[in-house]
Amino acid sequence: MPMTTEMLEPDPQGYARAVALLSQGNLVAFPTETVYGLGGDACNDVAVARIFDAKGRPRFNPLIVHVPSIEEAKSLVHWSDAADILASAFWPGPLTLVLPLKEGHGLSPLVTAELESLAIRLPANPVAQTLLRAFGGPVAAPSANPSGKISPTTAAHVAQGLDGRIAGILDGGACDVGLESTIIGLTDTPTLLRPGGLPAEAAAHALGAPLAAHIGDGTLTAPGQMASHYAPGAAMRLNAEERRSGEVLLGFGAVECDLNLSAAGDLVEAAAALFGHLHKLDNSGAQIIAVSPIPETGLGLAINDRLRRAAAPR
Ligand code: TXA
Ligand code: MG
Repeated sequence: MPMTTEMLEPDPQGYARAVALLSQGNLVAFPTETVYGLGGDACNDVAVARIFDAKGRPRFNPLIVHVPSIEEAKSLVHWSDAADILASAFWPGPLTLVLPLKEGHGLSPLVTAELESLAIRLPANPVAQTLLRAFGGPVAAPSANPSGKISPTTAAHVAQGLDGRIAGILDGGACDVGLESTIIGLTDTPTLLRPGGLPAEAAAHALGAPLAAHIGDGTLTAPGQMASHYAPGAAMRLNAEERRSGEVLLGFGAVECDLNLSAAGDLVEAAAALFGHLHKLDNSGAQIIAVSPIPETGLGLAINDRLRRAAAPR
């Protein structure tokens, strides 16, 4: 049965309501600097199950847990030197670390899909930080979009996908980074599990060694690792040098196009605009979205990763 989704402002009443909803096991979407997260109490099985249900996620993939401080992270996972280096350099920020779970962590087993490791992140967005501090416990949050659809970078995107399926949306405006966090596995050699909002080169530079590449072995079919993901209703054509008839062109750099990710060719600006522009072109009823070539450097890696998944056969 559809519920009424409350739109909450980031003011004292809004935070108090969001905390009350989370404490009752309900779901509240909230902004992070990467994308909006669909938050639920990470220690409450029902809340976590509701996350999968609201998203229509086909299976129980492990979720990222959000905490307000490094101390809180250390209470949930076994910390390491590499974690220290990366957290000191990039937390709070668009970086998720996968570390071995500690005994007595108290998290719902659904959060980790019963893995022995936990994906954990300290977001920089001030609204996220205020909410996490006010709630006082770990919050599990995947991106706040129906499974397989474009990730949300505004409260309106969240409402478009999940209105009537979640209890509340905390509106903190548009996300700065606009791409999901970079995920680095630290249970073994530091490994890039998902390119994202923090350029992998920056992490490698801080560690003083290149990151190992993740080889999917099929045991963990993560949504972010599924071939078709972030899919708009329209078909997609990548590396398009020009607009063909019947297409809209999502441009990059100095090109004539319908919407431009960054006329200046700036990858940070492009990352921030990516999902919002895809939403807009998709909502315009376009049949085919063509996309200019994006360089495979810095945030371009993550942008191209999302575009390839959006374009993959469904
Ligand atoms: O920026 C982000 O990371 C956003 C915001 C809301 O924080 N969250 C997000 O969550 O993108 P989600 O659920 O869409 O993606 C989480 C990814 C999945 O690919 C999942 O498989 C992986 O993290 N993951 C979670 N726990 C893991 C673990 N223990 N080991 C390896 N991968 C894990
Ligand atoms: Mg997602």
